[in-house]
Amino acid sequence: MSSSAVIETSPLVPEAHARRIVDPRSYGQHALLHESFSWLRKHQPLGKVVLDDYAPFWLVTKHADIQEISRQNDKFHNGDLSTILIAKGVDENIRRMTGGSPHMVRNLVNMDPPEHMKYRMLTQSWFSPNSVRRYEEKLRGIARGFVDRMVAGGERCDFVRDVALHYPLHVLMEILGVPEKDEPLMLKLTQELFGARDPDMGRSAAEMEDPAKAVKVLQQVLADFGNYFNGITEARRREPRDDVATVIANATIDGAPIKPFEAASYYVILATAGHDTTSASTAGAIWELCNNPEQLAKVQADPSLIAGLVDEAIRWTTPVKHFMRSAVVDYELRGSSIKAGDWLMLSYYSGNFDEEVYPDPYSFRVDRTSNRHLAFGFGAHACLGQHMAKLEMRVLLEELLPRIASLELDGTPKTGQSPLVSGPKTLPIRCRFK
Ligand code: HEM
Repeated sequence: MSSSAVIETSPLVPEAHARRIVDPRSYGQHALLHESFSWLRKHQPLGKVVLDDYAPFWLVTKHADIQEISRQNDKFHNGDLSTILIAKGVDENIRRMTGGSPHMVRNLVNMDPPEHMKYRMLTQSWFSPNSVRRYEEKLRGIARGFVDRMVAGGERCDFVRDVALHYPLHVLMEILGVPEKDEPLMLKLTQELFGARDPDMGRSAAEMEDPAKAVKVLQQVLADFGNYFNGITEARRREPRDDVATVIANATIDGAPIKPFEAASYYVILATAGHDTTSASTAGAIWELCNNPEQLAKVQADPSLIAGLVDEAIRWTTPVKHFMRSAVVDYELRGSSIKAGDWLMLSYYSGNFDEEVYPDPYSFRVDRTSNRHLAFGFGAHACLGQHMAKLEMRVLLEELLPRIASLELDGTPKTGQSPLVSGPKTLPIRCRFK
């Protein structure tokens, strides 16, 4: 990591908070993380994290600052340094493997202008609000199937295992044109990528603690994805269909066919970015309705509040906890001098509980009037699939909530341990149906 290391005059984030924020285990314990972020927003909204294992980075915790940085993607790049928090050793190994690049794949998330827009425009219209709306009836059919199976299964279930994991995956695979028989493989690969350091999800969580082995494990997961999707590219070139895979397989960039590595990277981002994230916020909605029966009653009495419930659940869960940026120029923010080459963590999780934007941020309210959360990011890289994610969640909740007579937790849920994408990984519930 080539981040400049001038730290003498920088306000350092206290070590206890810094360690908590980089530790995957903290992401299984919301209260601890919230304690740190709330302290930081109040006392040190922009501070520098300096720990032995990581290149120094600025920790951006305020909603306004995250927006200010994200909207200037000419001054704060995605491509120059890693877009996710990784340890120094992992970064060195990735660069060794890629011949200098900090990225193992080449997708939208790690591209900058002007290239980023060329790739984004390929699929942007597919994911526009108008375009995703044409899927509503199809999604409703899929959602109804999940709810029917829940009802048939009786009062008790693990909502993550039985609904939240598979419903978004099934929707995505429909859009990508992946056959249903391959969904278990996609689920496994996504979890191995995002929950790589989680002992319940990673391919080899123990090896992830050794940087050289960690890169090899991730490389293997990506290679498995790549091999799978190369087959899809060939099939869609031979026989185009009405799906996103066909758009990617037949895309041209600057007049030439998209290259295999870029095409595979595109599938990987679509297959992965929209799956664990939507699962996490869907399960987050049900978890909070268990905790707040009065909110369930409110939304059942007035289904027009479901759209608000969806946004509140996405804010509350903030499945993508951060993304990183790197400064291209020197920049003053909150009295601190960010230098060109510095690395920054945009903490969406912190920004979404910022007291300056959210009155009473730690209460779950389906009727928040203006919920400008940052869970989808902001600016040029704002989530491409956000309208699809919200539609999926709304349709499922519209099908499920009217059928619920009572809802409660039936054990202690477990939360995923990842500083990148995390949310409930089990949600035992007892649900009586009308
Ligand atoms: C609740 C569900 C979701 C959440 C919380 C979420 C969150 C995010 C976030 C935080 C970003 C990065 C924004 C930034 O760097 O400024 C992002 C980007 C992206 N998301 Fe999502 N996402 C979700 C669902 C989806 C779905 C369903 C899809 C696809 C079907 C998707 C595809 C993408 C893509 C392709 C990008 C890269 C955009 C770019 O860099 O231009 N996401 N998402």
